[in-house]
Amino acid sequence: MKTQTISTIKQSKNRQQLSMITAYDALFASLFDKNIDIILVGDSLGMSFGGYDDTLSVTMKQMIYHTKAVCNGAKNTFVVCDMPFGSVTNKKLALKNATKVFQQTSADAIKIEGGKSKQDIIKYLTDNSIAVMGHIGLMPQFVRNTGGYQVRGKTKKDTKLLVEDAKALEEAGVFAIVLEGVKAQISKEITQAVKIPVIGIGAGADVDGQVLVWSDMFGFFESFKPKFVKEYLDGAKLIKDGLKSYIDDINNTKFPSKNEQY
Ligand code: KIV
Repeated sequence: MKTQTISTIKQSKNRQQLSMITAYDALFASLFDKNIDIILVGDSLGMSFGGYDDTLSVTMKQMIYHTKAVCNGAKNTFVVCDMPFGSVTNKKLALKNATKVFQQTSADAIKIEGGKSKQDIIKYLTDNSIAVMGHIGLMPQFVRNTGGYQVRGKTKKDTKLLVEDAKALEEAGVFAIVLEGVKAQISKEITQAVKIPVIGIGAGADVDGQVLVWSDMFGFFESFKPKFVKEYLDGAKLIKDGLKSYIDDINNTKFPSKNEQY
């Protein structure tokens, strides 16, 4: 029995904050299982694990592989599979790819980047029993089109567009929306404009929940730390310290000791 369902997620609006984290493999998913409301198999894996500059090279095949692994590790948690760049460009292709996710993995929902421009495609999916989480604001899949990762909601015109995007997604039947990289005051307005939960990342506190990329929040990236990330661990230091001790032990013939031998 999963700790969250579409209904409980929807009902959380104005009642309790939702917690969401990314995971890309069974090992970490098993550590997050039951401890978090939602696990997102984000296409951020292209950057954080693939080492690419953006998410655009991630494929359907890769998303299915990683989603299967996460579902193996997190049997009790609501799992969302991100639809990669180019996988939902028209209704037929979107349904074909979403069906693959539902038939080949045990993910509970998919996530799609895009607002008004994706409304018809998302409506088609929800009409065909696909649970969809929306994603608006700063959309990493649009980065080569918009010329970089730009914070949204800086003008009245942009704020109006964002509110329209959120409402369009609600009408299309999404059960929740990820809101990324938006001025905090504007996020509040967007959150209040819809009846479904809005889960923020770099969108301030006045939303219905938060999501972070696990390797960012646990401090595994030494070269870059986005302003909106709070580091809950110094993961890179822990690993490096552990690695150094291992190498020292090998050099000093302290490992393996009698305890670690057959
Ligand atoms: O791909 C991802 O990890 C995401 C989150 C940043 C929301 O879309």
